[in-house]
Amino acid sequence: MEAIGYSLCRIWLLFLLFWLGQGRQMAPPGFVESSCRSRIFWMKLNKLLLHGKFFKLEINDPYAGPILLDEKLASRCGYVLSEDVWGNPVFRASVLGCHVINEADELFSLTVNIKVSSFSSMRAAVTYTYPMYCSYSSWASREIVCEENYMEVSVKTDVPAVSNDYTVAWMSALPETQNVAYQLWQLMFVSPSGRKRITVSDAAKLGYSFNNTLSRVYLRAPYHSNESDVSMVSGVNMNMVTSTSMYRQRWLLLLIDTTVSCPVDGISFTDTTLTWTVPSVIPTLVVQESTFLTKNILMGVDDQVIVNPEEKNYLLEHNKTHIGITIPIGAEGGKLKSSISGGVYGVIYSIDLFLEHTWTDADWQTTKYTVIKSITTPFMPQIPTVINNTLPEERLFSVAFGHFLPDVSLVAITIGNVPFTLREAQHHGFKIYETPFSNRTKGFILEVSFDDPYVLKEYVNRNETKYILLINYTISVDPEMTLYYHSAEVECVIADIELPEAVGYCDEENLYLAIPTFGLHQYWNLYLGNKLLNRHVALANGYLAATNSTHLILQIPLFAAGVVYEVEGDHIIYENEISYEKETLPGQSIPTITRDPDYRLTVLCYYRAKETLVLGAFANDPSASPPFGSGMMVPRPNIADVSCLLPKNLTNISFSAVSRRIRQTLNVVSRVSKDQSFVEFYEPNVAILKRPVEPVFLEVELKDESPDAELYLENCWVTRSLDLNGTPRWNITMDGCETNGSEYAAEFCPVAVSPRVRHPSHFKRLAVRTLARRLEQVTVQPASRATYLLDRSGLLIQISDDACKLNL
Ligand SMILES: *[C@@H]1O[C@H](CO)[C@@H](O)[C@H](O)[C@H]1NC(C)=O
Ligand SMILES: *[C@@H]1O[C@H](CO)[C@@H](O)[C@H](O)[C@H]1NC(C)=O
Ligand SMILES: *[C@@H]1O[C@H](CO)[C@@H](O)[C@H](O)[C@H]1NC(C)=O
Ligand SMILES: *[C@@H]1O[C@H](CO)[C@@H](O)[C@H](O)[C@H]1NC(C)=O
Ligand SMILES: *[C@@H]1O[C@H](CO)[C@@H](O)[C@H](O)[C@H]1NC(C)=O
Ligand SMILES: *[C@@H]1O[C@H](CO)[C@@H](O)[C@H](O)[C@H]1NC(C)=O
Ligand SMILES: *[C@@H]1O[C@H](CO)[C@@H](O)[C@H](O)[C@H]1NC(C)=O
Ligand SMILES: *[C@@H]1O[C@H](CO)[C@@H](O)[C@H](O)[C@H]1NC(C)=O
Repeated sequence: MEAIGYSLCRIWLLFLLFWLGQGRQMAPPGFVESSCRSRIFWMKLNKLLLHGKFFKLEINDPYAGPILLDEKLASRCGYVLSEDVWGNPVFRASVLGCHVINEADELFSLTVNIKVSSFSSMRAAVTYTYPMYCSYSSWASREIVCEENYMEVSVKTDVPAVSNDYTVAWMSALPETQNVAYQLWQLMFVSPSGRKRITVSDAAKLGYSFNNTLSRVYLRAPYHSNESDVSMVSGVNMNMVTSTSMYRQRWLLLLIDTTVSCPVDGISFTDTTLTWTVPSVIPTLVVQESTFLTKNILMGVDDQVIVNPEEKNYLLEHNKTHIGITIPIGAEGGKLKSSISGGVYGVIYSIDLFLEHTWTDADWQTTKYTVIKSITTPFMPQIPTVINNTLPEERLFSVAFGHFLPDVSLVAITIGNVPFTLREAQHHGFKIYETPFSNRTKGFILEVSFDDPYVLKEYVNRNETKYILLINYTISVDPEMTLYYHSAEVECVIADIELPEAVGYCDEENLYLAIPTFGLHQYWNLYLGNKLLNRHVALANGYLAATNSTHLILQIPLFAAGVVYEVEGDHIIYENEISYEKETLPGQSIPTITRDPDYRLTVLCYYRAKETLVLGAFANDPSASPPFGSGMMVPRPNIADVSCLLPKNLTNISFSAVSRRIRQTLNVVSRVSKDQSFVEFYEPNVAILKRPVEPVFLEVELKDESPDAELYLENCWVTRSLDLNGTPRWNITMDGCETNGSEYAAEFCPVAVSPRVRHPSHFKRLAVRTLARRLEQVTVQPASRATYLLDRSGLLIQISDDACKLNL
């Protein structure tokens, strides 16, 4: 007790001297923690208090002063400087290590200086002096420690302990070894390269450390020294130094077996577990295996013994050959860490374990065998999942992205191909927040309204909208800050399109479309074919639009542009296709996927075929015409669609490949021939001068029709004005037959097959002559005037005093 008291007093005195003389300080609370685990000083620094700082450790020898800790010193002196799985610096030292004050092999103390500086040069470092005290009196006859960087064996010297085959007879009388200068010891190594006998000081040069204490001798060896050997025991590679320590005096030879053997592998992994295997019986350490008996097996994590491993889901098993510890990946005590490797997200799990195996055998009585192992799994890819929690009723995309460890952060997000920083995203109105999951992981929740401009929309199935959220997440992993990208596409289809309930009907001259002005109609645009029907288009085509309090009524002349005829059975069908497209949001500048216009109406007016003759005459005398049939509206579903991704500025254009009946515009062309040969014609839009007696040769051709079709010019007349209904008028053909009036005479000219004329029935030719003396301005119009208008080939004949002037 006296000695201990003196020693502590001395340390305290020294400490006080440092404190006063060199500005040394006590470590701040929480910065250093230490413990004694069997015969190891275990010290941990709090990394949070070292953030952004540099530190160095010195071993404070009470006599020699501070000694800087480096790797070489560490393995020779029984020190380990490393990090725990959380990144906190850890320092471990054997109680048999250098500079440890050993009080009777029971009380041990070691003082460490922790130097902390903001500079890597350690300039202006603050030094914290940290003394550690451990007591350990329950030494086994032999104790072996397999540390990360050294193997250590210590043997009680008052016990006969010789087992090597080259040993000599045991000496019954032993000297008091503590008084023997260690220089008198020699070491004999046996390795595959032969025997080597060296002095202790020479062994120190090779990295070994040998010394004796009050009642023990110990040998510390680095791994993989020249004197060591590797051999496999029960499937585990063991590094082994076979040595005998010899003490010789004139009449005495003391031999102590200081053989040590430590596992260098034995770790295996599955997808969900890691297993650490250590052989139960190590032959070089147990000579008479038949006397071997396991007394106790303990496992620990960091510096803590785990009394009930199963409580933490660890599995500690042993049989005659193996001791195995199996840890589920992610289990408590270890650390899961995110990592990015080759653009793939994954995790790495680390845990610091130790195993303490105590056995007895006839040679050694008790051996305590401790292995300390830091285990890290390989990179395990873990593809994150995107969980679709979309709420269609709330028109809200809600998407969870996980499962991530706490060291992952979301740094940016791309929505609809537009990149946002998190701040921009929040500012825009995307909701992004973290959510914890039950198994200590977390996820990122993103909420985006269906109506957000960055949500893509596709119109499908007539009254449904497909909302598409394109996401590209950018996450980063601490502390590497490596970026990882993950893209996802979430979509939701809802029937949210209210179709305008338009009604179409016909009368003898027009098609009508009545569209209710309430409801969603205001969001729709009217298209004719694929042309937006605006004021200008309406005016140019002779459409009229009127509104009453409930409806917009569109009047479309029967023969106007956009009206299509179909020459079906004994009916003629006037068809006008009107399509709607939902108005795109103003200011929208992102690409949109569109399909065929969402809604398409076709107004069909059916007339019996024989009435077409009558139809041609309506301009003459509408009152005489029979009723003109009734109109109906046929909503036409799209049959086959193709969708195209359009460039930015073309959001309104749609393409359709709709399989449907073939239909054509009735294509009629009229020309004025230079003579009755009908070979050469005047250019359109030129003035033609004719003498009154000279006839005007007029040809009308029906193009693109089947060979069976025949063109009739039912009623043609001449008027004075440009107005088709202008009066007076003089008939030149009636019911398809030429008539000769008082003013004008018309005569059909025969049409023969020629290079220009494949089907004569598609042609009609007229020679029109003026009979009257007085020359007047007249207009000649075939009855099927609308057809001419439709094709912009309306014919106007002007006759002046001395000439007939034709404008095409
Ligand atoms: C051996 O131990 C003694 C007593 O503790 C010590 O003075 C000596 O320096 C040690 N030798 C070595 C090489 O560590
Ligand atoms: C180990 O052996 C090699 C080759 O014999 C030699 O070069 C090396 O210096 C030795 N190492 C030590 C530490 O003695
Ligand atoms: C002991 O356990 C190990 C590992 O689980 C196994 O490979 C071996 O076969 C077992 N040995 C005996 C003797 O049961
Ligand atoms: C957490 O739970 C989820 C789902 O149950 C699973 O996919 C994920 O791998 C778990 N993560 C961890 C670290 O256990
Ligand atoms: C997501 O963003 C990254 C980085 O900009 C890019 O390399 C990757 O191709 C994107 N993924 C998709 C599917 O767009
Ligand atoms: C996502 O959730 C919505 C709403 O439940 C559902 O309509 C949709 O089909 C889901 N799937 C995908 C891939 O978006
Ligand atoms: C959408 O159209 C389908 C079939 O045409 C119809 O059954 C459904 O009721 C419509 N839904 C809405 C909301 O209009
Ligand atoms: C407006 O016109 C439509 C179509 O002609 C008609 O059905 C409707 O009754 C009219 N409304 C009023 C209030 O006159």
